[in-house]
Amino acid sequence: MLVKTGNDTREISSVWMENSDIVMIDQRLLPEKLEFFRATNTDELCFAIREMVVRGAPAIGVAAAFGIAQAKMQHKDLRDVAEKIKSQRPTAHDLFYAVDECVAEIEKGSAPEKVARDYCNRIVEECRKIGEVGEKLIFHGSRVLTHCNAGALATVDWGTALAPLRMAKRKGRNFFVFVDETRPRLQGARLTAWELGNEGIEHAVIADNAAGYYMARGDVDIVITGADRITANGDFANKIGTYEKAVVAKENGLPFYVAAPLSTFDFNLKNGRQIKVEMRGEEEVHLIDGTRITPETSRALNPAFDITPARYVTGFITAFGIFRPSQIFALKEKWRCRKC
Ligand code: MRU
Repeated sequence: MLVKTGNDTREISSVWMENSDIVMIDQRLLPEKLEFFRATNTDELCFAIREMVVRGAPAIGVAAAFGIAQAKMQHKDLRDVAEKIKSQRPTAHDLFYAVDECVAEIEKGSAPEKVARDYCNRIVEECRKIGEVGEKLIFHGSRVLTHCNAGALATVDWGTALAPLRMAKRKGRNFFVFVDETRPRLQGARLTAWELGNEGIEHAVIADNAAGYYMARGDVDIVITGADRITANGDFANKIGTYEKAVVAKENGLPFYVAAPLSTFDFNLKNGRQIKVEMRGEEEVHLIDGTRITPETSRALNPAFDITPARYVTGFITAFGIFRPSQIFALKEKWRCRKC
């Protein structure tokens, strides 16, 4: 992804491996500071996943893949490490998919670092292809709405929902993006806006509860989000607030697309009711920039994701084409043989 710092523009990934360290952009600090977090062992990696130094389903998966390789290089028990890494966040399927695949490959005798790097390269390549497939939905003058951050930060490079936007911009199209701020952790306001700014894509951050206003006024042409887990019937989990955006989009006759790599599909689950939704700490709702905004006596509830039923999805943008929810079984073969 392009990152502008002062007069300098450079290409960086959000996660990579350096010797046996896993290096990540510290996403907790953006956009104020661009700093890097170095996980030198499994405990540090688990901290990074749990505390959202690294976040976004595919990026968590890649960090976990490097974590498995690192554990093998440090002669740890792979099965123990796998369980520990998988227990950090329950909803994103990529975390489980990446860990299981890398453990299986390494147990077959493949070189640990190569296994993890191949996994990472595959995710990046899938995201680039999502961009190629999805850019056809973005026209000169399109008005796009997105929720949370499904950009390069969340996927190592390109993004899922943001990949079609990056690709369309690079093809010379100009369009406008409504960026939901995405309470409570503000991934839209802090991360998506930062990425779009770096790419020179025109955008405005809106309060989450302004999305319906703009959709009802006819100011939005298309909604694109990412996903954390997509079940066999096309229901999907994504950042809290996605469900209501999908319902309002349908009410207003707007297309609602979900962009994701194969690693986000979970064909073992029949429907969204089977997805485990992560509940995060109350302080994420109570505090803004460390200042409490709620009465001391109030409790807060903080589900990190919600489930959107398949009937609200116009199509899934994948590296293999755009699929209606009823067609995603066609991806199952590719998913099973993984590296095919
Ligand atoms: O809690 P987060 O920030 O990890 O949640 C991320 C999302 O919900 C993203 O939309 C999703 O992972 C898709 S990322 C390509």
